[in-house]
Amino acid sequence: MSNQVWGLNGKSVLVTGASRGIGRSIAIALGEAGANVSLTYTGSSENSEKNAREVCELVEKAGGKALALALDLSNTEQIKDTVDQAFKHFGGLDGLVNNAGIVIDQLALRYKEDDFSKLMDVNVKGTFFVCKAALRYLGKSGMGSIVNMSSVVALSGSAGQAPYAASKAAIIAMSKSLAREMAPRNLRVNVIAPGYIDTDMTSFMEEGQKEALLERIPLKRVGKPEDIANGVLYLLSPLSSYVSGQLLNINGGLYM
Ligand SMILES: NC(=O)c1ccc[n+]([C@@H]2O[C@H](COP(=O)([O-])OP(=O)(O)OC[C@H]3O[C@@H](n4cnc5c(N)ncnc54)[C@H](OP(=O)(O)O)[C@@H]3O)[C@@H](O)[C@H]2O)c1
Repeated sequence: MSNQVWGLNGKSVLVTGASRGIGRSIAIALGEAGANVSLTYTGSSENSEKNAREVCELVEKAGGKALALALDLSNTEQIKDTVDQAFKHFGGLDGLVNNAGIVIDQLALRYKEDDFSKLMDVNVKGTFFVCKAALRYLGKSGMGSIVNMSSVVALSGSAGQAPYAASKAAIIAMSKSLAREMAPRNLRVNVIAPGYIDTDMTSFMEEGQKEALLERIPLKRVGKPEDIANGVLYLLSPLSSYVSGQLLNINGGLYM
Protein backbone atom coordinates (compact mmCIF):
# COMPACT_ATOMS: atom_id res chain seq x y z
CA MET A 1 0.00 0.00 0.00
CA SER A 2 1.31 3.47 -0.85
CA ASN A 3 2.84 5.20 2.15
CA GLN A 4 0.59 8.20 1.48
CA VAL A 5 -2.60 6.28 2.27
CA TRP A 6 -2.11 6.10 6.03
CA GLY A 7 -0.95 9.70 6.53
CA LEU A 8 1.88 8.46 8.74
CA ASN A 9 4.79 9.51 6.53
CA GLY A 10 7.39 11.26 8.74
CA LYS A 11 5.34 10.68 11.91
CA SER A 12 7.08 9.23 14.97
CA VAL A 13 5.74 6.13 16.67
CA LEU A 14 6.98 4.09 19.62
CA VAL A 15 6.21 0.36 19.50
CA THR A 16 6.98 -1.77 22.57
CA GLY A 17 7.97 -5.42 22.18
CA ALA A 18 8.84 -5.14 18.50
CA SER A 19 11.74 -7.60 18.33
CA ARG A 20 9.37 -10.47 17.52
CA GLY A 21 5.83 -11.45 16.66
CA ILE A 22 3.06 -8.89 16.35
CA GLY A 23 5.26 -5.93 17.35
CA ARG A 24 7.78 -6.79 14.64
CA SER A 25 5.03 -6.73 11.99
CA ILE A 26 3.68 -3.44 13.31
CA ALA A 27 7.16 -1.86 13.13
CA ILE A 28 7.71 -3.05 9.56
CA ALA A 29 4.24 -1.89 8.46
CA LEU A 30 5.00 1.52 9.97
CA GLY A 31 8.27 1.56 8.02
CA GLU A 32 6.31 0.90 4.82
CA ALA A 33 4.09 3.85 5.75
CA GLY A 34 7.21 6.04 5.98
CA ALA A 35 7.14 6.50 9.76
CA ASN A 36 10.00 7.02 12.22
CA VAL A 37 9.81 3.96 14.44
CA SER A 38 11.27 3.59 17.93
CA LEU A 39 11.06 -0.10 18.74
CA THR A 40 11.80 -1.86 21.99
CA TYR A 41 13.25 -5.23 22.93
CA THR A 42 14.10 -6.63 26.38
CA GLY A 43 17.71 -7.69 25.83
CA SER A 44 16.96 -10.62 28.14
CA SER A 45 17.77 -13.41 25.68
CA GLU A 46 20.69 -14.09 23.39
CA ASN A 47 18.71 -13.15 20.28
CA SER A 48 16.64 -10.26 21.60
CA GLU A 49 18.91 -7.37 20.55
CA LYS A 50 19.93 -9.11 17.32
CA ASN A 51 16.25 -9.53 16.42
CA ALA A 52 15.55 -5.87 17.18
CA ARG A 53 18.48 -4.76 14.97
CA GLU A 54 17.12 -6.92 12.17
CA VAL A 55 13.68 -5.28 12.54
CA CYS A 56 15.41 -1.86 12.36
CA GLU A 57 17.03 -2.86 9.06
CA LEU A 58 13.67 -4.03 7.68
CA VAL A 59 11.94 -0.80 8.75
CA GLU A 60 14.62 1.25 6.99
CA LYS A 61 14.59 -0.95 3.91
CA ALA A 62 10.81 -0.42 3.76
CA GLY A 63 11.27 3.36 3.72
CA GLY A 64 11.03 4.39 7.37
CA LYS A 65 13.58 5.33 10.03
CA ALA A 66 14.27 3.14 13.04
CA LEU A 67 15.72 3.27 16.53
CA ALA A 68 16.05 0.21 18.79
CA LEU A 69 15.77 0.74 22.54
CA ALA A 70 16.14 -1.78 25.39
CA LEU A 71 13.13 -1.82 27.69
CA ASP A 72 11.85 -4.11 30.41
CA LEU A 73 8.31 -3.06 31.25
CA SER A 74 8.71 -4.16 34.86
CA ASN A 75 11.30 -1.37 35.31
CA THR A 76 9.39 1.91 35.72
CA GLU A 77 12.54 4.09 35.65
CA GLN A 78 13.62 2.54 32.36
CA ILE A 79 10.15 3.21 30.91
CA LYS A 80 10.50 6.96 31.37
CA ASP A 81 14.06 7.02 29.91
CA THR A 82 12.95 4.98 26.90
CA VAL A 83 10.01 7.23 26.08
CA ASP A 84 12.21 10.32 26.53
CA GLN A 85 14.84 8.88 24.19
CA ALA A 86 12.25 8.06 21.52
CA PHE A 87 10.88 11.62 21.71
CA LYS A 88 14.31 13.26 21.58
CA HIS A 89 15.73 11.09 18.81
CA PHE A 90 12.99 11.84 16.31
CA GLY A 91 12.09 15.28 17.66
CA GLY A 92 8.50 14.38 18.55
CA LEU A 93 6.07 11.57 19.27
CA ASP A 94 2.78 11.11 17.41
CA GLY A 95 1.86 7.52 18.18
CA LEU A 96 2.36 4.85 20.81
CA VAL A 97 1.69 1.14 20.43
CA ASN A 98 1.72 -0.68 23.76
CA ASN A 99 2.19 -4.09 22.22
CA ALA A 100 4.60 -5.81 24.64
CA GLY A 101 3.02 -8.32 26.96
CA ILE A 102 3.69 -11.67 28.54
CA VAL A 103 1.61 -14.74 29.20
CA ILE A 104 1.97 -17.06 32.20
CA ASP A 105 -0.64 -19.82 31.98
CA GLN A 106 -1.57 -22.10 34.84
CA LEU A 107 -4.74 -23.48 36.37
CA ALA A 108 -6.02 -21.24 39.17
CA LEU A 109 -5.44 -23.89 41.84
CA ARG A 110 -1.73 -23.99 40.98
CA TYR A 111 -1.12 -20.32 40.20
CA LYS A 112 1.85 -18.83 42.10
CA GLU A 113 1.65 -15.38 43.66
CA ASP A 114 5.03 -14.35 42.16
CA ASP A 115 3.81 -15.22 38.67
CA PHE A 116 0.63 -13.21 39.22
CA SER A 117 2.67 -10.17 40.30
CA LYS A 118 5.09 -10.51 37.38
CA LEU A 119 2.24 -10.73 34.87
CA MET A 120 0.44 -7.69 36.28
CA ASP A 121 3.70 -5.70 36.52
CA VAL A 122 4.43 -6.15 32.83
CA ASN A 123 0.96 -6.22 31.28
CA VAL A 124 -0.94 -3.69 33.42
CA LYS A 125 1.52 -1.52 35.36
CA GLY A 126 4.02 -1.44 32.49
CA THR A 127 1.39 -0.48 29.92
CA PHE A 128 0.02 2.26 32.17
CA PHE A 129 3.42 3.80 32.89
CA VAL A 130 4.42 3.82 29.23
CA CYS A 131 1.17 5.71 28.55
CA LYS A 132 1.91 8.08 31.43
CA ALA A 133 5.45 8.81 30.19
CA ALA A 134 4.19 9.43 26.64
CA LEU A 135 1.03 11.48 27.30
CA ARG A 136 2.77 14.84 27.50
CA TYR A 137 4.63 14.28 24.24
CA LEU A 138 1.64 12.81 22.41
CA GLY A 139 -0.51 15.71 23.56
CA LYS A 140 1.85 18.07 21.71
CA SER A 141 1.47 16.16 18.46
CA GLY A 142 -2.00 17.45 17.59
CA MET A 143 -2.82 14.00 16.17
CA GLY A 144 -1.64 11.78 19.05
CA SER A 145 -2.89 8.20 19.07
CA ILE A 146 -2.33 5.32 21.47
CA VAL A 147 -3.09 1.71 20.59
CA ASN A 148 -3.02 -0.76 23.47
CA MET A 149 -2.95 -4.53 22.99
CA SER A 150 -5.59 -6.58 24.76
CA SER A 151 -6.70 -10.10 23.81
CA VAL A 152 -9.83 -12.00 22.82
CA VAL A 153 -9.60 -13.85 26.15
CA ALA A 154 -10.31 -10.58 27.99
CA LEU A 155 -13.82 -10.87 26.52
CA SER A 156 -14.40 -14.60 26.27
CA GLY A 157 -12.44 -15.85 29.28
CA SER A 158 -10.05 -18.78 28.97
CA ALA A 159 -9.42 -21.75 31.26
CA GLY A 160 -5.87 -21.66 32.63
CA GLN A 161 -5.52 -17.97 31.81
CA ALA A 162 -7.48 -16.18 34.56
CA PRO A 163 -4.68 -13.74 35.51
CA TYR A 164 -3.69 -13.13 31.86
CA ALA A 165 -7.32 -12.53 30.84
CA ALA A 166 -7.74 -10.17 33.82
CA SER A 167 -4.60 -8.24 32.83
CA LYS A 168 -5.89 -7.84 29.28
CA ALA A 169 -9.35 -6.77 30.51
CA ALA A 170 -7.64 -4.14 32.69
CA ILE A 171 -6.05 -2.74 29.53
CA ILE A 172 -9.51 -2.16 28.01
CA ALA A 173 -10.78 -0.25 31.07
CA MET A 174 -7.53 1.71 31.28
CA SER A 175 -7.71 2.68 27.62
CA LYS A 176 -11.33 3.87 27.80
CA SER A 177 -10.50 5.99 30.86
CA LEU A 178 -7.44 7.50 29.17
CA ALA A 179 -9.50 8.14 26.04
CA ARG A 180 -11.90 10.27 28.10
CA GLU A 181 -9.09 11.98 30.01
CA MET A 182 -7.01 12.89 26.95
CA ALA A 183 -9.75 13.76 24.43
CA PRO A 184 -9.51 17.50 25.18
CA ARG A 185 -5.95 17.34 23.76
CA ASN A 186 -7.14 15.52 20.64
CA LEU A 187 -5.28 12.44 21.84
CA ARG A 188 -7.10 9.22 20.94
CA VAL A 189 -6.76 5.92 22.78
CA ASN A 190 -8.01 2.64 21.34
CA VAL A 191 -7.53 -1.06 21.94
CA ILE A 192 -7.02 -4.08 19.72
CA ALA A 193 -8.07 -7.52 20.93
CA PRO A 194 -6.28 -10.10 18.77
CA GLY A 195 -7.59 -13.63 18.49
CA TYR A 196 -5.07 -16.45 18.01
CA ILE A 197 -2.10 -15.11 16.07
CA ASP A 198 0.79 -17.21 14.84
CA THR A 199 3.74 -16.04 17.01
CA ASP A 200 6.13 -17.47 19.63
CA MET A 201 3.42 -16.80 22.23
CA THR A 202 1.09 -19.36 20.68
CA SER A 203 3.76 -21.78 19.40
CA PHE A 204 3.30 -24.06 22.45
CA MET A 205 -0.05 -25.29 21.07
CA GLU A 206 -0.14 -28.92 20.10
CA GLU A 207 -1.54 -30.06 16.74
CA GLY A 208 -4.76 -31.37 18.33
CA GLN A 209 -5.31 -28.06 20.15
CA LYS A 210 -4.75 -26.13 16.91
CA GLU A 211 -7.29 -28.25 15.04
CA ALA A 212 -9.89 -27.78 17.81
CA LEU A 213 -9.26 -24.04 17.70
CA LEU A 214 -9.67 -23.85 13.91
CA GLU A 215 -13.07 -25.51 14.32
CA ARG A 216 -14.14 -22.50 16.42
CA ILE A 217 -12.79 -19.80 14.07
CA PRO A 218 -15.41 -18.91 11.41
CA LEU A 219 -12.72 -17.71 8.97
CA LYS A 220 -10.94 -21.07 9.44
CA ARG A 221 -7.43 -19.81 9.89
CA VAL A 222 -5.13 -18.62 12.65
CA GLY A 223 -4.28 -14.92 12.35
CA LYS A 224 -1.02 -13.54 10.98
CA PRO A 225 0.87 -10.74 12.77
CA GLU A 226 0.16 -8.60 9.69
CA ASP A 227 -3.61 -8.90 10.38
CA ILE A 228 -3.01 -7.03 13.63
CA ALA A 229 -0.52 -4.56 12.11
CA ASN A 230 -3.17 -3.44 9.58
CA GLY A 231 -5.58 -2.61 12.42
CA VAL A 232 -2.88 -0.75 14.33
CA LEU A 233 -2.01 1.41 11.31
CA TYR A 234 -5.67 2.35 10.89
CA LEU A 235 -5.97 3.37 14.56
CA LEU A 236 -2.74 5.41 14.43
CA SER A 237 -3.69 7.08 11.18
CA PRO A 238 -5.77 10.24 10.65
CA LEU A 239 -8.17 7.90 8.79
CA SER A 240 -9.51 7.04 12.28
CA SER A 241 -9.49 10.62 13.61
CA TYR A 242 -13.09 10.27 14.94
CA VAL A 243 -12.45 6.93 16.65
CA SER A 244 -11.52 6.89 20.34
CA GLY A 245 -12.14 4.62 23.34
CA GLN A 246 -12.94 1.71 21.01
CA LEU A 247 -12.07 -1.94 21.00
CA LEU A 248 -11.21 -3.49 17.63
CA ASN A 249 -11.56 -7.28 17.57
CA ILE A 250 -9.25 -8.94 15.04
CA ASN A 251 -9.94 -12.63 15.51
CA GLY A 252 -11.37 -14.24 12.37
CA GLY A 253 -14.82 -14.16 13.98
CA LEU A 254 -13.76 -16.29 16.97
CA TYR A 255 -15.56 -13.90 19.32
CA MET A 256 -18.35 -11.63 18.07
N1 LIG B 1 -0.06 -14.11 19.74
C1 LIG B 1 -1.34 -14.09 20.07
O1 LIG B 1 -2.12 -14.99 19.69
C2 LIG B 1 -1.92 -12.97 20.88
C3 LIG B 1 -3.30 -12.99 21.12
C4 LIG B 1 -3.88 -11.96 21.86
C5 LIG B 1 -3.08 -10.96 22.36
N2 LIG B 1 -1.75 -10.96 22.13
C6 LIG B 1 -0.97 -9.85 22.69
O2 LIG B 1 -0.22 -9.24 21.65
C7 LIG B 1 1.02 -8.75 22.16
C8 LIG B 1 2.18 -9.30 21.34
O3 LIG B 1 2.11 -10.72 21.38
P1 LIG B 1 3.12 -11.66 20.55
O4 LIG B 1 2.40 -12.93 20.33
O5 LIG B 1 3.70 -10.93 19.40
O6 LIG B 1 4.26 -11.91 21.67
P2 LIG B 1 5.72 -12.52 21.53
O7 LIG B 1 5.92 -13.16 20.19
O8 LIG B 1 5.92 -13.33 22.75
O9 LIG B 1 6.65 -11.20 21.58
C9 LIG B 1 6.67 -10.46 22.75
C10 LIG B 1 7.42 -9.16 22.58
O10 LIG B 1 7.36 -8.44 23.82
C11 LIG B 1 8.67 -8.27 24.35
N3 LIG B 1 8.64 -8.44 25.80
C12 LIG B 1 8.51 -9.60 26.51
N4 LIG B 1 8.56 -9.35 27.82
C13 LIG B 1 8.75 -8.00 27.96
C14 LIG B 1 8.93 -7.14 29.08
N5 LIG B 1 8.96 -7.59 30.33
N6 LIG B 1 9.12 -5.82 28.84
C15 LIG B 1 9.11 -5.34 27.57
N7 LIG B 1 8.98 -6.10 26.48
C16 LIG B 1 8.78 -7.42 26.68
C17 LIG B 1 9.53 -9.31 23.66
O11 LIG B 1 10.89 -8.89 23.63
P3 LIG B 1 12.14 -9.95 23.53
O12 LIG B 1 12.18 -10.41 22.12
O13 LIG B 1 13.31 -9.14 23.91
O14 LIG B 1 11.82 -11.05 24.50
C18 LIG B 1 8.90 -9.36 22.27
O15 LIG B 1 9.35 -8.29 21.48
C19 LIG B 1 1.04 -9.15 23.64
O16 LIG B 1 0.60 -8.09 24.43
C20 LIG B 1 0.07 -10.30 23.71
O17 LIG B 1 -0.49 -10.45 25.00
C21 LIG B 1 -1.15 -11.95 21.41
